Amino acid sequence: MNGRMDGKVVAVIGGGSGIGLRLAEQVVALGGRVVLGGRTAEPLDAAVARLGEAATARVVDAEDQGSVAGFFAGIAHLDHLFTPGSAYAYGRIDEISDAVAESPFRSKFWGQYWAVKHALPKLARDGSIVLMSGAASVRPLAGAAAYAACNAAVEGLGRALALELAPIRVNVVSPGTVDSDLWRRRPAAQREAAFAGYAGLAALGRVGAVDEVADAALFLMGNGFMTGSTLYADGGYALR
Ligand SMILES: NC(=O)c1ccc[n+]([C@@H]2O[C@H](COP(=O)([O-])OP(=O)(O)OC[C@H]3O[C@@H](n4cnc5c(N)ncnc54)[C@H](OP(=O)(O)O)[C@@H]3O)[C@@H](O)[C@H]2O)c1
Repeated sequence: MNGRMDGKVVAVIGGGSGIGLRLAEQVVALGGRVVLGGRTAEPLDAAVARLGEAATARVVDAEDQGSVAGFFAGIAHLDHLFTPGSAYAYGRIDEISDAVAESPFRSKFWGQYWAVKHALPKLARDGSIVLMSGAASVRPLAGAAAYAACNAAVEGLGRALALELAPIRVNVVSPGTVDSDLWRRRPAAQREAAFAGYAGLAALGRVGAVDEVADAALFLMGNGFMTGSTLYADGGYALR
């Protein structure tokens, strides 16, 4: 059971859809306020319209450090930061371009690094950061080597920042495959094959729900003794 978030301000880069939006909905339901970021205004505006006056939003591109700096310059005070906003592609090392190979690091690693850097001056000393990873960090599949390495790098970043930034707490949520907007935008055949493959590999025999990952992130924000941890919300995928 998560505690109340009354008076708390949470920035969510990647808050217009998927796991970030669900986390924002949970924070608002618990009495907190959210500042949502993403690259396109339309989903952000729709989210703010749904969440009401506890939510504001502004466009930001996590890959552009200047844009990230501008996003946080407009925020007076923050209690927590959550950074699921990234977009990337992947493939086999002998098949993809260098631009595709670099895309997870550009978006998911450096995007989160820039977010932490520019959020810091606004973050409460008793606040926290939850970084977004993915269980491919510890159980990679063939065909996404740079993506797997990027997730491992994010988890290492979280551990190192927990030491550097204490007493601000830094944790990482590392989901397995989740039935989110990310997969809804992909072709149905690709999605169904990926979900069936994941169900065959995870101990629980299914993909995750957006709610389940948002719950994990909310727990990491709320528990004052959690820092330096990576929480695998993955149905036991990383175990085998
Ligand atoms: N779903 C899964 O199976 C799964 C598994 C493991 C890890 N994850 C991780 O979970 C995170 C969120 O994914 P999701 O499943 O919730 O999918 P999602 O709905 O695609 O969420 C990503 C959000 O981030 C925003 N975004 C993308 N690139 C951005 C950028 N450069 N700057 C700012 N915002 C950006 C997107 O909006 P705009 O396009 O408008 O910017 C979108 O609202 C990702 O980091 C992903 O790697 C997901």
